[in-house]
Amino acid sequence: VAPVSVATLAAMKARGERIVSLTCYDACFARLLDRAGVDLLLVGDSLGMVLQGHATTVPVTVEQMVYHGASVARGRERALLAVDLPFMAAATPERALDSAARLMQEGGAQVVKLEGGEWLAETVRRLSEQGVPVCAHLGLLPQSVNRLGGYRFQGRDETSAERIRREARVMEEAGASLLVLECVPAALAGEISRSLSIPVIGIGAGAGCDGQVLVLHDMLGLNPGRPPSFSRDFMQGRGSIGEAVAAYVAAVRDGSFPAAAETPY
Ligand code: KIV
Ligand code: NA
Repeated sequence: VAPVSVATLAAMKARGERIVSLTCYDACFARLLDRAGVDLLLVGDSLGMVLQGHATTVPVTVEQMVYHGASVARGRERALLAVDLPFMAAATPERALDSAARLMQEGGAQVVKLEGGEWLAETVRRLSEQGVPVCAHLGLLPQSVNRLGGYRFQGRDETSAERIRREARVMEEAGASLLVLECVPAALAGEISRSLSIPVIGIGAGAGCDGQVLVLHDMLGLNPGRPPSFSRDFMQGRGSIGEAVAAYVAAVRDGSFPAAAETPY
């Protein structure tokens, strides 16, 4: 099977085929998700919360992202591999270029993802010029949780929605190849997905995006007590992790995930 590239994902968007993504932090799951047909593996800095037990993603380092990226890279064959730049790693364009070089040369990243709006436009341009496929990330920015004061939906009033619309355009114009929209109203995410030519992958952003991503451990029901309102436990009624992941892949492809119940706004 031909490996997935950012061009493959763009072609899927053009054909109206939904893109399936999950977070992934190790080689074992990389093999499983890759074989189940997941298109995009995201080594998210959510690993700071999911694997390390931190309350936020702020403590995660470039070194740790390199370690997990390299582990996932050894397990994947077909799926495209995106790795997050962690907190402060894109504080200046120079720092972002150095960090991205490490993620790609040591961490096996094929796409580098970074959180933030207009202030990152120059960084996205510089990375793209150097041949780095960039995934932008707008809406809820978990690395800014200490400023935001909590994990809340963004873009719910017109001022905030207009800012996200503008930032999405700016990221595309700066050369981003992909965009993740986290926790924004479905109508806004759908509108941005239709207006951009690059694929938009949603999490907590409704069914109108070009693709969906979830945190692996959330969709496997490994977050007991507080599952996010926009996630689904795909282990419910299924006997194995393989079956649960296959069900997720099918549900994203046919548009049945996320359903209305998993679309809070
Ligand atoms: O860190 C992460 O897992 C992410 C996804 C939820 C998009 O950024
Ligand atoms: Na992240």
